[in-house]
Amino acid sequence: MVKLDNVSKRYGARVALHPVDLEIPSGETTALIGPSGCGKSTLLRMIVGLVRPDTGVVRIGAEVLTADNVERLRHGIGYVIQDGGLFPHLSCAQNVVLLARHLGLPKAQIDARLQALSALVHIPADALDRYPQQLSGGQRQRVGLMRALMLDPKLLLLDEPLGALDPVTRFELQTELKAIFEQLSKTVVIVTHDMGEAGFFAEDIVMMREGRIVQRGSIADLLERPAEPYVSQFMRAQRVPGAPEPA
Ligand SMILES: Nc1ncnc2c1ncn2[C@@H]1O[C@H](COP(=O)(O)OP(=O)(O)O)[C@@H](O)[C@H]1O
Ligand SMILES: [Mg+2]
Repeated sequence: MVKLDNVSKRYGARVALHPVDLEIPSGETTALIGPSGCGKSTLLRMIVGLVRPDTGVVRIGAEVLTADNVERLRHGIGYVIQDGGLFPHLSCAQNVVLLARHLGLPKAQIDARLQALSALVHIPADALDRYPQQLSGGQRQRVGLMRALMLDPKLLLLDEPLGALDPVTRFELQTELKAIFEQLSKTVVIVTHDMGEAGFFAEDIVMMREGRIVQRGSIADLLERPAEPYVSQFMRAQRVPGAPEPA
C-alpha cells in the first residue's frame, strides 16, 4: 500500500530522518512508536506529501509520489493529528465536508456521508453544528476522524490522535477506533509513544529512535528478541509486563 525507499530528511544541520525503508501492508494496522523527536511525524508527513524527502521515493499504491500527483493522491489518504487540526472558524460539520464541497461532490452524497460518519463515530447531529472549541477533546477527535474518512480513503494516517486525551476518554476511543478500523478494513498507520496503545491497535510495531527504524515486529518480538539494548530500555520505561531487567 505504501512503500518508502531510502527516504531521508534534514532540517539544516539536524537530521530528522536518516535514510529509511519501510513497507506498509494493505488492509492492516501498523503502529509507529518511539520517543519524542525521533521522526515519527516527519515520516507520516512524508507519506501524506506534506514533507518532501531529501532523498528517496514514497510510493502510494503503484504510484511514486511527486509534486504533480501529490494533491490527487492526498485525497486518497485520511490524516488525523493530535489536536484534530480542525478550523476553529468553521462548524464541525463544515470542517468535515470542506474538501468534499471544494471537489464539487453532489450535495446529497455529502449529506449522506456526513450522516453515516456521525453514526460511525458516535457524534450527535447537534454537536456537528457547534464550533470545534465547543466540543470536548474526545469529541473533537471523533470529528477529526470523520473529516479524514469523508472521501473514503484507502489509507488512514493518525499522528498521536489520542495523545491529548484523559485516560478514560482515551481508553473509550481506543476501543471504538479499533472496532472502526476492523469494520472498515482500511490500511492504517497510527503513531503513538505508548507501547500499550501500539500493541492494542497493531500486531506490527515499528520502533524508531533518533531518525532510524530500530526494530519492527510484535510486542513479543520486541520483548524476547530486542534488536538493541535500547528496545528493552524502552519496554522497561513503558512498564510493559515481561520487559527484561537491566543487565
Ligand atoms: N519543520 C521543522 N523544522 C526544523 N526541525 C524540524 C521540523 N520538523 C521536525 N523537526 C525536527 O526533526 C526531528 C523529528 O521531528 P518529528 O518528526 O516531529 O518527531 P516526533 O514526531 O517523533 O516527535 C526533531 O528533532 C524535530 O525537532
Ligand atoms: Mg510527532
